[in-house]
Amino acid sequence: MTVSLDQLRRCHFAVDLGAARTRVYVKGAGLVVDQPSAAAVNTRNGALIAVGELAEKMTGRTPSYIRVVRPVSGGTVVDIEMAQRMLRHLLGERLRRKLRRKPRLRAAACTPHDADPLAQRAAIETLVGLGARRVELVDTLVAAAVGCGLPVEQAEASMIMVCGAAATQIAVLSLGNIVTAERVPVGGEAVDHAIVQHLRHEHALMLPSQSVRPLQVALSGNGLTPHGPAATEIQGRDVATGLARSVLVDTAAVRIAIQTPLTAVLDGIGKVLRDCPPDLVADLADRGIMMVGGSALLPGLDQMLRQATGMPVHIAERPDICAVQGLGAMLEGRIQPLVLNPLAA
Ligand SMILES: Nc1ncnc2c1ncn2[C@@H]1O[C@H](COP(=O)(O)OP(=O)(O)OP(=O)(O)O)[C@@H](O)[C@H]1O
Ligand SMILES: [Mg+2]
Repeated sequence: MTVSLDQLRRCHFAVDLGAARTRVYVKGAGLVVDQPSAAAVNTRNGALIAVGELAEKMTGRTPSYIRVVRPVSGGTVVDIEMAQRMLRHLLGERLRRKLRRKPRLRAAACTPHDADPLAQRAAIETLVGLGARRVELVDTLVAAAVGCGLPVEQAEASMIMVCGAAATQIAVLSLGNIVTAERVPVGGEAVDHAIVQHLRHEHALMLPSQSVRPLQVALSGNGLTPHGPAATEIQGRDVATGLARSVLVDTAAVRIAIQTPLTAVLDGIGKVLRDCPPDLVADLADRGIMMVGGSALLPGLDQMLRQATGMPVHIAERPDICAVQGLGAMLEGRIQPLVLNPLAA
């Protein structure tokens, strides 16, 4: 399936349905939605109670009859109906009315690099339910590369690493196409999980999911690099007694705990480089790797990759929104007129 820039320019809105966040770009209006991919549902009557930020805040704090669900998992839509309801609410009545007025509503969406036909269909179905008559799919890697301003259309290699919540996708692009790519099912969620498991095993402490980020920030500049304070105080709940307790966490030990998921990412980079033609690898040695995606902000990750690969590593200006911004640039016709073949492997 080939999608040309011409077809993308005719789209009215673009959606990036991520495992962690949902982002919507409306042509002429810009990025209008950037919220967690979560919905809180009343299980007694099926009513939607909250979506996005509000629903995310409810996670782990709801009475038994309210359930916080995530309609996107591992980068694909797993509950089409819920994804549609969530998107409708996130867009709001005013925007929906504006989109409904278009005679033949067209939408674009980005899908993970190796999305199978079922996952692609789920993304299409979700947007058709929102009123789209035609849906164009773009590979997330291409969208993100365009969004962070990499010169993808040139005959020079660019390496991009999309660090999402559920997966990390790595690719070498040249002449507007993907030369080699790899998708590692390890992302920000796996890193968070490794930290939570470490505290549970080493300190018998249960960490609320919201406390993982402060710990990462505390690790900043010392968690993945060997400088800075050796310990950080963390609040949690004792596994045995259930009582609140705070412990001093050794940052070096946390660094070791998150090595396992990060090793898988390093293996992915190695595989992409091995599969890449030698002429392009020479370009990459100078240009380095561009990191995008929310997890690119993980403190010290860039430094670790620099050390492990010996290549320059850059973080995009707004790494989290690169993919949707790239889709936006395609919709607005802001990139070179060149035929993209975003779904070609
Ligand atoms: N400042 C930060 N430091 C560390 N991690 C962060 C930061 N900001 C976001 N993240 C992590 O980034 C992830 C979200 O990234 P992103 O928004 O790219 O995901 P997504 O597009 O929803 O996921 P996917 O593309 O895998 O479906 C989360 O796992 C979150 O924990
Ligand atoms: Mg994403």
